[in-house]
Amino acid sequence: MARALAVAGRDQSPAVVEVTVPNPGPGQIRVAVEAASVNGIDVATGAGAFWESEPHRFPVVLGRDFAGTVERVGPGVATIRPHDRVAGVITGTSMARGALADTIVFDARSVTTLPPGISEEQAAAAGLAAVTAKALVDALNLTEDDTVLVTGATGGVGAFAVQLARAVGATVYATARPGEPTEFVRGLGANETVDYTDGFAAPPGLTAVVHAAGDAATLAALLPAGGRMSSALGADAGAAGRKDITVTPVVPTATPETVGTILDSIAAGTLRVPITHTYTMSEAAQALADFGSHKLGKLVVDTRR
Ligand SMILES: NC(=O)c1ccc[n+]([C@@H]2O[C@H](COP(=O)([O-])OP(=O)(O)OC[C@H]3O[C@@H](n4cnc5c(N)ncnc54)[C@H](OP(=O)(O)O)[C@@H]3O)[C@@H](O)[C@H]2O)c1
Repeated sequence: MARALAVAGRDQSPAVVEVTVPNPGPGQIRVAVEAASVNGIDVATGAGAFWESEPHRFPVVLGRDFAGTVERVGPGVATIRPHDRVAGVITGTSMARGALADTIVFDARSVTTLPPGISEEQAAAAGLAAVTAKALVDALNLTEDDTVLVTGATGGVGAFAVQLARAVGATVYATARPGEPTEFVRGLGANETVDYTDGFAAPPGLTAVVHAAGDAATLAALLPAGGRMSSALGADAGAAGRKDITVTPVVPTATPETVGTILDSIAAGTLRVPITHTYTMSEAAQALADFGSHKLGKLVVDTRR
């Protein structure tokens, strides 16, 4: 059995419960999870946002990213061994067995071995948010000649996008409310900050937008002709209401290579994981509640406690 933050049935609230854990089948591994993080999709799933659109296999365990130690490998697994430290990211909208659990059975080919010098907490917190941020920034093909507005910069995805855009030399404007949130995005390397609660004009020389929050059409209107926008919220040219800019809705995929690149940057100290609170497993439902209450960066659950 595993302790997991799960939705037991339709119209039920997420709670920490015991769920069964199968033995790893062919090509699978069983991982003793040490950390998992909270993402927007977990909050939405817990609130029943997908009841009508996605089949649910109950109990639906929440969580999209984890890191831990391999306990056992199934038949045919040659590349991963017991005691390896691994991280996994679940993309897509499958509503079944997620990562907010103290044990998970996962496809061996989909995990990434942790490089030395990185903690399970860091790897789990990077997870889906960092993979999405990388896809958003890559889609814009930024150079040092670009000025990019990163929206949602105070959140998980945006906090990584700010850093990745700065790493390629772009000038970064980051959205943040005044006070601590503004200090937070400055600490991530943002060149300038924008108080999104007060209406704002286009930053000078703006060429690109990372859309991780806010209204797509409002943001698109800030761009000159030929500008680029990438969206984590599924916005396309139609939603943006502009035919003279490029809008790319990003659907991230988490390959071991993508996750490995991110983990290597963290281990090398060039990408910071902005964890602002770590919860015990018993507090996991509280982590979900706090996610929607102006938290900064990433919330992590220590699944062993
Ligand atoms: N396509 C995918 O597969 C995928 C994957 C991951 C995430 N996402 C989506 O990407 C978005 C960001 O994810 P996340 O995990 O980073 O969420 P998050 O941690 O909640 O971050 C969102 C941030 O946006 C800020 N914000 C709210 N309204 C804003 C506005 N109008 N302008 C600028 N900032 C605003 C919030 O700060 P305040 O405290 O000021 O409210 C919050 O810090 C979510 O919509 C999520 O569903 C998509």
